[in-house]
Amino acid sequence: MHAILVAASKGGCGKTTLVTNLATALANAGRRTVVIDADPQRSAYRWCARRPDDLSGVLALEARGPAVMAKLPPDADALIIDTPAGTTARQLAPWLEHVSAMLVPALPSAFDFDATLDFLGALSALPAVAEGRLPVALVANRLRPRTVTSRNAITALKAQYFPLVAQLRDNQSYVFLAGLGKGLFDYHSETVRQHQDDWKPLLRWCQRHG
Ligand SMILES: Nc1ncnc2c1ncn2[C@@H]1O[C@H](COP(=O)(O)OP(=O)(O)O)[C@@H](O)[C@H]1O
Ligand SMILES: [Mg+2]
Repeated sequence: MHAILVAASKGGCGKTTLVTNLATALANAGRRTVVIDADPQRSAYRWCARRPDDLSGVLALEARGPAVMAKLPPDADALIIDTPAGTTARQLAPWLEHVSAMLVPALPSAFDFDATLDFLGALSALPAVAEGRLPVALVANRLRPRTVTSRNAITALKAQYFPLVAQLRDNQSYVFLAGLGKGLFDYHSETVRQHQDDWKPLLRWCQRHG
C-alpha cells in the first residue's frame, strides 16, 4: 500500500495542498484512498467533507496519532497523512513505522528555507531515515518560474541530500479547487493538464516508494 507522510516544519508551505491533490491523483487512478488528518486545524478532513459525491472517493480520518491505523478499511490501498505545522522530526517518529515514504514541501523564500534546512537536518538523524528504510523527497511549491527567488530555491533544494521530486508552480487553481473539495486530477482541461505535468515525477517517485 502507498503510505505517504507529508510533513514540514513551516505552516503554509503546501502540506495540505500536497495531501489533497495527491489524494485526487491516487483516487482517480482507481486506488482506494484514505487521508489521515493529524492536524487539529482539520483542513484536509474538511476538504474531504466538501468533496462532491460524484468524484472519485477519498475517505478522511481525523487522528492525533497512529492508533487511527486500526480504523483503516481493510481494502484501503493508498494512505496519505497530513501533519500540523511545527511538528518536529522527533514528533513524527510514531508515524514512521506505518509509512513507506515521506514528502517535505518547501517554499522559495529565505525564512521558509532556513526552517526547512533545520527540519531536514533533524530528519536525517532519525534512524529510519539515516538507515535508508524511509525514503524522503522534497517538493518545491509555489514557484514562480523565471524569478530569481524560485531559481535560487531550486538550486538550493537540488543541493540537498534528499531528491527534489516536483516543482509546483504558484497557481490559483490550487486555492480554488481546495475550496471545492477537489484537486487537479479531477479535471482534464488543457490548463489544468499543464499543472498535472508538474506532478508527474512526484507520482512516479510515490509509485516507486509506495
Ligand atoms: N502551488 C500553489 N499555488 C497557489 N497557492 C497555493 C499553492 N500551494 C498552496 N497554496 C495555498 O497556500 C495556502 C497554504 O497551503 P496549505 O496547503 O494549506 O499549507 P500547509 O498545509 O502547509 O499549512 C493555502 O491557501 C493554499 O491554497
Ligand atoms: Mg495544512
